[in-house]
Amino acid sequence: MKTIRALCLGLVPFGLAACDTAENETNQPAADAGFINVYSARHYDEDDLLYDKFEAETGIEVRRIEASGDLLIERVRAEGEVSPADVIITVDAGRLWRAEQADLFQPLESDAVNDAIPARLRDPEGRWVGIAKRARVIVHAPDRVDAADIDTYQDLADPALAGRLCVRSSGNIYNLSLLAGLIERWGAEQAEIWAAGVAANFARPPQGGDTDQIRAVAAGVCDVALVNHYYWVRLATSDKQEDQDVAAATTIIWPDQEGDGTHVNVSGIGVAANAPNAENARRFIEFLVAPAQQTLLARANNEFPASGAPTDNPVLDGIGRPQEEVINVRVYGERQAEAAAIFDRVGWP
Ligand SMILES: [Fe+2]
Repeated sequence: MKTIRALCLGLVPFGLAACDTAENETNQPAADAGFINVYSARHYDEDDLLYDKFEAETGIEVRRIEASGDLLIERVRAEGEVSPADVIITVDAGRLWRAEQADLFQPLESDAVNDAIPARLRDPEGRWVGIAKRARVIVHAPDRVDAADIDTYQDLADPALAGRLCVRSSGNIYNLSLLAGLIERWGAEQAEIWAAGVAANFARPPQGGDTDQIRAVAAGVCDVALVNHYYWVRLATSDKQEDQDVAAATTIIWPDQEGDGTHVNVSGIGVAANAPNAENARRFIEFLVAPAQQTLLARANNEFPASGAPTDNPVLDGIGRPQEEVINVRVYGERQAEAAAIFDRVGWP
């Protein structure tokens, strides 16, 4: 497996050929080459194991090009019809939706995919499919807040939490997708009242990433935070004592277990619109949704398999599994603009 880091992003939109491997200069629409170009926003060592396994099973060489989520999408868009991308892997259905809206995917008809992955975790038109699941959860300091008082998303807007809540900025895709899902559940009016209530409870202006929010709870900056579950699991399984201490000082709550279920999003993949090796792309995606790969893929980032495959992750198993919301994850994209407008209006920067 080859990893080609996207250091050439600065060259966009000209001179992209300089970033590509020589073979890509001879793109032929005829038969697939003996390789696949995987554009991935994931950066986990365990993914390399998966790619090695795919190579061993199929003889198809995996060439990975890495960039962060939005840069990855920008790159494929800038490359246009000559893009060597065969598949695009990125995180959050809201971002998969952006790629879909930019016409970066082509539909994939695959019984193997449709049988393995629940319909709510796939684009109904087959342009992308979830390959791992992440929950947006509440983390709190159990010595300062009673779990029963903050076991729903609605509780985060309770005035009792004034000055006690930490969360990252609203421009982050995780927050956009969460609010989009809440708009779908409650309607835009109720969702806006909620967002205003949450913004009124900030302990500090939104800053940092999800891990920073958990650290802030442990440090006493705030009592409650809203984060993706795997950041907490990452701290709990860290080699560093200071990270383990942060996890030990905080507890995860799966929100809305009595109601509509916890907000669950995906990491996902789709066949690139101009994939030179579309058949290899299909084989690669079908490989990733098979049970053994689902378990490995999820374990890499302490996510849950998108299929019904087992987790093989003792720490994750130790915190249980949430009852999930049932709406199709594509809604997180469809309502993204509405969510952004609400965040603007309520003053959640
Ligand atoms: Fe993340």
